[in-house]
Amino acid sequence: MEELIRALPKAELHVHVEGTLEPEMMFDLAARNGVALRFASVEEVRAAYAFTDLQSFLDIYYEGMAVLLTERDFHDLARAYFQRAHTDGVRHAELFFDPQAHTGRAVPFETVVNGLHAAIEEARAEFGISALLILCFLRHLPAEQAMATLEEALPFLDRIAAVGLDSSEAGHPPADFVEVYARARAEGLRAVAHAGEEGPPEYVRQALDLLGVERIDHGVRSEEDPALLERLVREGVPLTMCPLSNVKLRVVDRLEDHNLKRLLDAGVRVLINSDDPAYFGGYIGQNYVETAEALALTRDEVVTIARNSLEATFLDDAAKAELLAEIDEVAARLV
Ligand code: ADE
Ligand code: ZN
Repeated sequence: MEELIRALPKAELHVHVEGTLEPEMMFDLAARNGVALRFASVEEVRAAYAFTDLQSFLDIYYEGMAVLLTERDFHDLARAYFQRAHTDGVRHAELFFDPQAHTGRAVPFETVVNGLHAAIEEARAEFGISALLILCFLRHLPAEQAMATLEEALPFLDRIAAVGLDSSEAGHPPADFVEVYARARAEGLRAVAHAGEEGPPEYVRQALDLLGVERIDHGVRSEEDPALLERLVREGVPLTMCPLSNVKLRVVDRLEDHNLKRLLDAGVRVLINSDDPAYFGGYIGQNYVETAEALALTRDEVVTIARNSLEATFLDDAAKAELLAEIDEVAARLV
């Protein structure tokens, strides 16, 4: 199974680039930039990654970002991700980034985008990975600040494919961000949103109906609403699920309890991603391997999930067709 998983061309569509900051790099960047950390060692950092819910993770995730200051830092961060993604057989990635978590610390928007973009160009040449950027709005901050962030992004729209919505979900409904999403879509950006991770199925509906999103990030709680689930199937809405993240953040108790397989059986277009792999104990390959094991996925089901990941990308039809043909070839050889 591991060989098949690695060999399948895959897309990763739910990974926060800031969530790929490994403790080792955190210390390297802290030293390089003269930033003080409250931890004495990598082991101490890892020991602090014991989360009880989404917020307990977000607090330490935003804290860790303090070491990211220069274009080079953002470049090095993304480069390290692409290196790992390459070993897992990722051929296309759509990376979330949280500009407000940086501009709020006086790091200019262009520093972030230029650093990430440089790594994206290199990844294509070095690893044959294509990548796009998804600008996420922090939903715990006011919608006016999201709009100001979108306006800051306007000069860089050739480097940004889509907008997303992340951070503390409960109490921060998609409905609060209708205006900024309408503006983003008018500017030609695609749209996704985190919904149904900790928030209710109603937030998934709002993301679809009010924000016009093309994918739902997580969507785990959609299952609580049968009519919504039926709609996701009918409309072919992809759910970018992150099983190891859901265990670490206590969205589910154990990986064996995850609803990914039930949703797959029901006809939902589910895919497997890593979310914040430096914090949750595994990159995309590990997410596939552990999920396949815990839910007893067949080889055909794993191929279907990889196929879903490619079909759900923002790539054009020709690029999708090329990768899908490769999947057929690998499946014929290894299934
Ligand atoms: N930001 C980074 N990871 C996140 C997650 N899993 N949910 C919401 N916001 C996030
Ligand atoms: Zn996420």
